[in-house]
Amino acid sequence: MSISGSKDHAARVAALREKFTKTFGHHPEGIWRAPGRVNLIGEHTDYNMGYVLPFAIDKNALVAIRRKSQLEPESQSLDFASTYGGGETLAVTSITVDELVPRAVPGWAAYPAAVVWALNQVQGVELSGFELLVDSDVPVGSGLSSSHAMEVGTIVALNDLYALGLSHTQMALLTQRAENEFVGAPTGIMDQSASLMSQAQHALFLDCRSMDAQNVPLPLAQEDAVILVMDTRVEHSHVDGGYAARRRSCEQACEVLGVDALRDVARVDDLVAIDDPVIRRRAKHIVTENQRVLDTVKVLNEADLAAVGQLLYQSHVSMRDDYEISSEELDAAVEAAMGAGAIGARMTGGGFGGSAIALIKRDQVQSVSQAVLTAFEQAGYVQPNIFTVVADEGAGRA
Ligand code: GLA
Repeated sequence: MSISGSKDHAARVAALREKFTKTFGHHPEGIWRAPGRVNLIGEHTDYNMGYVLPFAIDKNALVAIRRKSQLEPESQSLDFASTYGGGETLAVTSITVDELVPRAVPGWAAYPAAVVWALNQVQGVELSGFELLVDSDVPVGSGLSSSHAMEVGTIVALNDLYALGLSHTQMALLTQRAENEFVGAPTGIMDQSASLMSQAQHALFLDCRSMDAQNVPLPLAQEDAVILVMDTRVEHSHVDGGYAARRRSCEQACEVLGVDALRDVARVDDLVAIDDPVIRRRAKHIVTENQRVLDTVKVLNEADLAAVGQLLYQSHVSMRDDYEISSEELDAAVEAAMGAGAIGARMTGGGFGGSAIALIKRDQVQSVSQAVLTAFEQAGYVQPNIFTVVADEGAGRA
């Protein structure tokens, strides 16, 4: 069952409605839901115009909005609140539409603000003030796209309320622009697309160049298998550092090879022209990872989970050794899960912290979780947050 129909979901929606009214003194016009994502496979391939295979998860951002009328005082002001800090009275951050300057809005409010900014760049769109309250259960900094969930929740809400008629692809591109130019994180198109276009019990096979998307059935239930998330609770950020450096290496590889994107390199042998061993290794990850996505789609269609598991683990090794975006904690989670009999495991998302996933049989949830907890305890790492996820449907009305 999709979480949208569950009792917990209905209770969260009702609580958010009440909180909104208490915070702003008005009822919201509506509440929208946008999920976080797990990437099954296809890491750092999105900005290389390649393939990805993420799915939306049953953790999401709920976004409640009320537009202000022109007659109200502060009609140009965007009033943002969230339930993040908890507490009875929520703090409200107010920014006028004119004050939306790239990189100038600190904290979580940058994400909804970025979306308003990006929409206002679109010819014919001129959004004015509104009140917004967000409640999210996507763990922040976990590599499960909590920020994109908030951005997507905001854009689907505004698309509906202002009858903008934007397609999923247009919304994905606009939230990417919001993230790249306003927030300042040089990320690709995968996370927003997963949050917008996923279907329950499917993964989203996306060609990041053409934006062709196919929903591939995940044969987990019939194989008694589940996806376990192991959040290392080592927070990561994509605004600076390693993520941008990897992107640069890919661009340098393209310059040497004379191609537009590493997507255009078919074989690892074609990389011999790259002298720098680090850049060559990084390019190798992208070339092999694109192939692994295609192979995973094939074996998923054959419901061959053992083969899926092998590809997941190969992907991890490639990220650890060639792309160098894993961390001690992510490696420990993957190795402990594999040692306890997981079908496959890999880090997921941008890397340098965040989460790993394991594909396991349902009756292994306890034993694999325990093995990971023990490994972390022995190594003296922070206790990880371990939970199963379900492939849920993409964003929409809550
Ligand atoms: C982050 C980015 C995505 C993608 C992944 C790595 O999640 O937001 O665009 O590049 O890292 O696959």
